[in-house]
Amino acid sequence: MCGIVGYIGNLDSKEILLKGLEKLEYRGYDSAGIAVMNDNGVQVFKEKGRIADLRNIVDEDVMANTGIGHTRWATHGVPSTVNSHPHQSNSGRFTLVHNGVIENYDILKREYLQGVVLKSDTDTEIIVQLIELFVNEGLNTEEAFRKTLTLLKGSYAIALLDAENDETIFVAKNKSPLLVGLGETFNVVASDAMAMLQVTDQYVELMDKEIVIVTKDDVKIQTLNGEAISRDPYTAELDASDIEKGTYPHYMLKEIDEQPLVMRKIIQKYQNDNGELTIDQEIVRAMNDADRIYIIAAGTSYHAGLVGKQFIEKIAKIPVEVHISSEFGYNMPLLSEKPLFIFISQSGETADSRAVLVNVKEMGHKALTITNVPGSTLSREADYTLLLHAGPEIAVASTKAYTAQIAVLSILAEVTARSRGLEIDFNLVQELGIVANAMEVLCDAKEEFEDIARKFLSTTRNAFFIGRGIDFYVGLEGALKLKEISYIQAEGFAGGELKHGTIALIEDGTPIIALATQESVNLGIRGNVKEVVARGANPCIISMKGLETEEDSFIIPEVNEILTPLISVIPLQLISYFAALHRECDVDKPRNLAKSVTVE
Ligand code: F6R
Repeated sequence: MCGIVGYIGNLDSKEILLKGLEKLEYRGYDSAGIAVMNDNGVQVFKEKGRIADLRNIVDEDVMANTGIGHTRWATHGVPSTVNSHPHQSNSGRFTLVHNGVIENYDILKREYLQGVVLKSDTDTEIIVQLIELFVNEGLNTEEAFRKTLTLLKGSYAIALLDAENDETIFVAKNKSPLLVGLGETFNVVASDAMAMLQVTDQYVELMDKEIVIVTKDDVKIQTLNGEAISRDPYTAELDASDIEKGTYPHYMLKEIDEQPLVMRKIIQKYQNDNGELTIDQEIVRAMNDADRIYIIAAGTSYHAGLVGKQFIEKIAKIPVEVHISSEFGYNMPLLSEKPLFIFISQSGETADSRAVLVNVKEMGHKALTITNVPGSTLSREADYTLLLHAGPEIAVASTKAYTAQIAVLSILAEVTARSRGLEIDFNLVQELGIVANAMEVLCDAKEEFEDIARKFLSTTRNAFFIGRGIDFYVGLEGALKLKEISYIQAEGFAGGELKHGTIALIEDGTPIIALATQESVNLGIRGNVKEVVARGANPCIISMKGLETEEDSFIIPEVNEILTPLISVIPLQLISYFAALHRECDVDKPRNLAKSVTVE
């Protein structure tokens, strides 16, 4: 949440910063700002709204070779121009952007800044005022920066400008992601390599509690105590086309369409020369050593975890519990003797999940992260990583990462089962290939899903998703997708559960989206549909070939029953997309949300 960029070099920094922020807008988009510095000092431009709004107020005539920028997802203080970053110290000498949350900002304010007039409601402003305070007390900028950092509790990625030194950006990181990008005659900083791919593909990863002095020719990484650190850069393997929309109107639609390709890529990445699926033997050993697996995740990744539990229990025969990460910290269940933790996180940065990871590592347990982002915090801090290979997911609503997570979990279950000598009555490589083809068929049926969205969802206030067994879990994901981008109040329920209370909400015309892809519960779910229809509901039944009836709205192609979530979710993604479009919502950047949830 929140994205930061910085540039120092020979070129005018404004456009580089603005383009960088556009690429980081997925991290937060309620306000944005840049500060640029030249011989005449620092100039700040900031605005409530999107980067496009910021562009309108940036003075084209100001030329500056150094600058920092920020796109915000508000935590402390409403989205407003005053609360947006960069923040400046009262004299205007220091200017700073920050991603993260300073937990002890109120204590620091009372302890150190009694006489200082604060302009904003943010935790961030405390940092820049403290730096100025310590400089006024006689420290130089670097010393004051260091001293301030040692006082902060919480998470931060910071870039700081000193108006009296236009040749340096002071940078620091703790818990929030931050990279330094290297160029021939310039250097950059960014929350995500995507932002600065426009100028370099060479990046140095920063670790927690590191401070970096960035000039145009040099990057000095140090610990907070001043010990020098040397670290080699890596090449960001991102293709510019991965992060562009191309001819698509929205990233979400592009990412939905990419799902067949992602399936094929996952098969290829996890296949050995003999055509067998394979994963790192250490991970297989950890799976086999565990007496119980705890899957920890949030949102869509949690929903993928629910499906993963089915795979691991049914195929590999290891008991699994799935927990919402934000709950697990406070409400830890009684753990088994030999637990293995699996963290599922598209971004690999989700603070709620990371808090659990830190905790279970302290308890001495092993952890595996399944993520789309190599080198992300959750990947680095876990013992093992499995990658999704889904390519950057930019739309806030997760689509291709969800199906990639499910596919990787199926591979993990299959490889573990084989290592245990368990019998598997299907060939997963072939079955995932069939899934990829079925996904293509569904992606080609967009017009039908647009019609369904128009028919069932164009004016409704609410909608319910029902299913039984694995269909229930997909229904939860369908409801999340619909509510987050169309703002229709949507809930997912186990089919049998509606009549225990929620059926009271059914009125004439209430849309019920029912999934019927599992033979064993087909009659049950159809019975539930009849119950709600008798109370006036408008049913949209999505069934699988072989289980269809005349009243169904859409029939998905047949795939292996256990893998149906991989394809039954696609109609739900597309219906949500078109519902949001009809309601003129901002599909890729829904209100109040951000892609990477780096605050607890
Ligand atoms: C919904 C969505 C979120 C994320 C959740 C966890 O479309 O994207 O619910 O799934 O914030 O994020 P990650 O997977 O990055 O840990």
